[in-house]
Amino acid sequence: MGKFVINGGKKLSGEVRVESAKNSVLPIMAGAILTSEQVVIKNCPKIHDVLSMAKILRSVGAKVRFENENLIIKADNLSGYTVCQELGKELRASVVMMGALISRLKKARLYYPGGCDIGLRPIDLHINSLKNLNVNVAESCGEIFCYTDRVKGRGIYLDFPSVGATENIMLSSVLCEGKTEIHNPAKEPEIVDLMNFLNSMGAKIYGAGTSTILIEGVKRLHGTEYQPAPDRIEAGTYLLATAITGGEVKINNCNVKNISPLIHKLCNNTCKISIKDDIIYLKSGREKKCFSFSTGPHPSFPTDLQPQAMALACVCEGVSVIEENVFETRFKHVPELIKMGADVTVKGRTAIVTGVPFLTGADVCANDLRAGAALVLAGLSAKGTTTVSGISHIERGYLDLDVKLKSLGADIKRQG
Ligand code: UD1
Repeated sequence: MGKFVINGGKKLSGEVRVESAKNSVLPIMAGAILTSEQVVIKNCPKIHDVLSMAKILRSVGAKVRFENENLIIKADNLSGYTVCQELGKELRASVVMMGALISRLKKARLYYPGGCDIGLRPIDLHINSLKNLNVNVAESCGEIFCYTDRVKGRGIYLDFPSVGATENIMLSSVLCEGKTEIHNPAKEPEIVDLMNFLNSMGAKIYGAGTSTILIEGVKRLHGTEYQPAPDRIEAGTYLLATAITGGEVKINNCNVKNISPLIHKLCNNTCKISIKDDIIYLKSGREKKCFSFSTGPHPSFPTDLQPQAMALACVCEGVSVIEENVFETRFKHVPELIKMGADVTVKGRTAIVTGVPFLTGADVCANDLRAGAALVLAGLSAKGTTTVSGISHIERGYLDLDVKLKSLGADIKRQG
């Protein structure tokens, strides 16, 4: 089991480049099986979740290979419609194979998906939406079997703007009979990316990023070459890493609009931020003001940056109030931060963080992807040595986090 060993206290400086967004790439990979022609996903990061999704695609007969930075997928001869339990539990995004397989093969078998342990994470919205689209869904002992003679477009209202459910509806409806309208869909940038990708294959999808998405079914899709959007969560993690260490960093390949909630918060926190095209330059101020925020569906503050932003709040002056409104139990990093000297109290979905002058190095464990990133950030700012174990979680979503931080002057080593 790998570990990061971090000697804290180094200010970050220099420049770093952000990868294509993990949460865009994964549903796009599923969407690539909707055509028998070749699909090229440009600048696709070789992170564990992408490699797991590639295994899932191969398991149903798609050909998947990396050619330099690009991922090439050809699903000309699919041989199966089952995502086995072992592969499915590796990542939550395996659930979007349901919509993709239904579109392509009219049947899909999969199991309740895995992923980060950050809440209940039911998939009722996915299943009810598919049923509305004329798909039969039979569930037994964790297995989900879906089949249809044809997907029929309909109006669907989502009780909550779930990202995965919106993606599953888009993927299952793109070749449907008629039109599907999604009311109250997720508005995350990754939804817009999935629309743009599918439209580049000949789909007719309108309105992603707004409160209604319209999908006009088409007869077939063709191959494409597609560049996914930059990863807003990775960019946000480097912004927060710079702020927490009091550094000065240029972050290349950002979609600034997509991370505006964090940028606004950091500007109020004595950080100086300037923006030029897709480059964000952050210079951290000497004092850090309290850092309160509430997470929510886009365009609110993203839940995937809550743990990393909490690490910053731990060393800010005064009391920060952090509300987690997306996942029920996304505070598992709190006991680990407390081991490093943080003063955090959790009451239900709210964490009260009283700033301390500094954190102290400790042995801590990453329980999930973003919690792991938060512990790395805490370690970068702490006095002494921090050892972060459980880094396989971190490597699911960050490409070369240690290498990139080292290039910015951090004292971080990977062991094991
Ligand atoms: C996606 C992201 C994840 C991010 C999350 C919220 C991927 C691979 N993952 O996860 O990084 O943290 O969006 O931005 O893109 N819910 C239900 N029923 C459902 C579906 C969801 O109650 O059928 C609830 C969930 O339990 C959760 C909330 O809705 O409390 C948000 O979930 P959702 O938006 O679906 O997140 P994911 O697609 O799992």
